[in-house]
Amino acid sequence: MSTKPRIVLGIESSCDETAVALVTSERTILAEKIASQTEEHAPYGGVVPEIAARAHAEKLSPMLEAVMDEAGIALTDCDAIAATAGPGLIGGVMVGLVTAKALAMASDTPLLAINHLEGHALSPRLANPELEFPYLLLLVSGGHCQILLVERVGEYRRLATTIDDALGEAFDKSAKILGLGYPGGPAIEKLAKEGDPDAVALPRPLRGSAEPHFSFAGLKSAVLRAKASGDHADADIAASFQQAAVDCLIDRLEHALERIGTPANLVVAGGVAANQTIRSALKKLAGKQSMEFTAPPMALCTDNAAMIAWAGCERLPLGEFDALDVSARPRWPLDPDAEPVRGAGVKA
Ligand code: KG4
Ligand code: ZN
Repeated sequence: MSTKPRIVLGIESSCDETAVALVTSERTILAEKIASQTEEHAPYGGVVPEIAARAHAEKLSPMLEAVMDEAGIALTDCDAIAATAGPGLIGGVMVGLVTAKALAMASDTPLLAINHLEGHALSPRLANPELEFPYLLLLVSGGHCQILLVERVGEYRRLATTIDDALGEAFDKSAKILGLGYPGGPAIEKLAKEGDPDAVALPRPLRGSAEPHFSFAGLKSAVLRAKASGDHADADIAASFQQAAVDCLIDRLEHALERIGTPANLVVAGGVAANQTIRSALKKLAGKQSMEFTAPPMALCTDNAAMIAWAGCERLPLGEFDALDVSARPRWPLDPDAEPVRGAGVKA
């Protein structure tokens, strides 16, 4: 007997993307809308929390209506309403979560408060139905750089994190130093194509270190010095920066694999996973270790609501819904048992 696919409405508003999506338990994205605030924040060279929260508040309602209309679905057809409840810029998170609460209350539909990082961590399973637990996940975004062992829904063992900047943050800051626009990741990747990755000697922080973590602050400072010296073309600095970042990622992943053994799958998620040079290096590493490699399509890598709705779909069988007074959390580690590290990158 076939069971009817379940439907989850997802809302994402933790940083500078307002997003709404309807996803089924059979991995169909029925409808989705995403509004980027890049233009609003561009003059400031980064995300301004107050501007972000206002923009989410303005954009969310019409986007919700459009998504429901496009899919021809009523709220009462949904099995749950899932919203990012953290970590992230708290004003934006509250806008999304309060909206979800109101919808849940009005339609008497269960609420799921989703950890944004769980959305990223499970997004590869939306893209790849064959991806089974456990898998080794490199989660690289604007606020995080972590290696996690994803054991099952709700169980994430953090093996490494950054002790200072997240990798996306290092891309964004380096882009700013080079006078490129925000967000910096795609701009650096584009410019790097015209440069020589060996042209500028940049450090590989913590490479070969016995501790498992990442560090990118020193790399960014070296980019600043390389630019200030006037000795290098911007494209060479961009290419060398990207190569140094790749070398750090591979070294730290090899370190993690040495510690825990080799699971069948290596997976990458988060905004920085859109980077093709990083993807190729990870694919090569997976091949070397006889692991399967999964990278979600670009649209699922950067912030989106389909991943939040999908995390909701994954959570449905657990039957653990959230009460309407659930709080928004600016900080919310995926692995509550992980030791805090000095100056860890903890932004959205
Ligand atoms: O996951 P995401 O959309 O938002 C957060 O939760 O942080 O990630 C955004 C980050 C930004 O730092 C952006 O510069 C970076 O992902 N990014 C990239 C690329 N596309 C986006 N970094 C490197 N290469 C890219 N192609
Ligand atoms: Zn994100």
